[in-house]
Amino acid sequence: MNIEKLEKGDYEHFMLKEIYEQPSTIADCMRGRLNAAAGWIKVGGIENVEDRMFNAKRFIMAACGTSWHAALIGEYLFEELARIPVEVEYASELRYRNPIINEDDVVIALSQSGETADTMAALELAKEKGALIYGIVNSVGSSISRITDSGSYIHAGPEIGVASTKAFTGQVTALTLMAIYMGYRRGTIPKSYYNQLLEGLEKIPAKVEEALKCNDQVKELAQKFINTNHTLYLGRGYNFPIALEGALKLKEISYIHAEGYPAAEMKHGPIALIDENMPVIVIATNKSAYEKIVSNIQEVKARKGIVIAIVTEGDEEISKIADYTIEIPDTEEPFTPLLSVIPLQLLSYHIALARGCNVDQPRNLAKSVTVE
Ligand code: AGP
Repeated sequence: MNIEKLEKGDYEHFMLKEIYEQPSTIADCMRGRLNAAAGWIKVGGIENVEDRMFNAKRFIMAACGTSWHAALIGEYLFEELARIPVEVEYASELRYRNPIINEDDVVIALSQSGETADTMAALELAKEKGALIYGIVNSVGSSISRITDSGSYIHAGPEIGVASTKAFTGQVTALTLMAIYMGYRRGTIPKSYYNQLLEGLEKIPAKVEEALKCNDQVKELAQKFINTNHTLYLGRGYNFPIALEGALKLKEISYIHAEGYPAAEMKHGPIALIDENMPVIVIATNKSAYEKIVSNIQEVKARKGIVIAIVTEGDEEISKIADYTIEIPDTEEPFTPLLSVIPLQLLSYHIALARGCNVDQPRNLAKSVTVE
């Protein structure tokens, strides 16, 4: 018995443990910030800098890797719910391209470690230019949390696996709380929808628990794809960043080439790759673009691609055309990323494990990238 074994508890790897912690880490992120019965959301970090947040001309979100994917979901959330213009930037690009950043901008940095060199440098630049800087960070007391004017911790607890899982859902939860809070206060969400969102969000930890029950099915499915060389992940709207995140998870721990794409972009290039050897993972839980995603699946099937579809429970239409379907619970559309990412985290974990890869410490990767 050593410390590592003790910390992993009954789990074989930190990554799996962290995937399974998500019902409680998401609840921890919401604790003290949301009460659906009483009808309130409270985000202390925003209250500290309320004037500048509410009067901002735009939000610029800066991050790297998985945190950048969370930021993309933030763009969809803030623009839809709070009607605030958002730009999402790779911190490594933002820092070197002489960007236009003004005093009435808010730059939001997302970082699990709070130590990523590029994100830190982008924030220093934004601070010099007079923007308000806000952090959505996991590691308490980290460099990024200290340099920001205000922020929200995600309270996910230490994340040891190099592949980020619970920090990602923590970041998305924090962004969701912020977008609903700001939307309601700005009058862009009607009271009835606000109440519906609060109730829906409060149920998410239990629904993540439910979504985790696909583990055995995903484990079995994973065995079919261990010799795959390439995969394509497709999603639309809120699930487009999940396609990117699913692909990144597979690449980093299983070393299988994977690409995430907005489903409708497929016909502008990647469709040429599809043949009977190409697994295509389609995140198909959208309500607003349901028929469109069905036709994307038909396009893949017409070229003999192997379709693994993530669908909402009870979906009958897609299960008739996809080769495999994995169900997740139904929820309000803005919350689907918190559920649809779960089977993709598990899929990459089981494929990597079956290929004999070092899941927690993949080759060439560091948990926190503190140098350029
Ligand atoms: C995610 O699985 C990665 N290992 C990596 O992309 C990570 O998200 C990125 O380096 C950013 O790290 P941070 O959140 O600690 O800033």
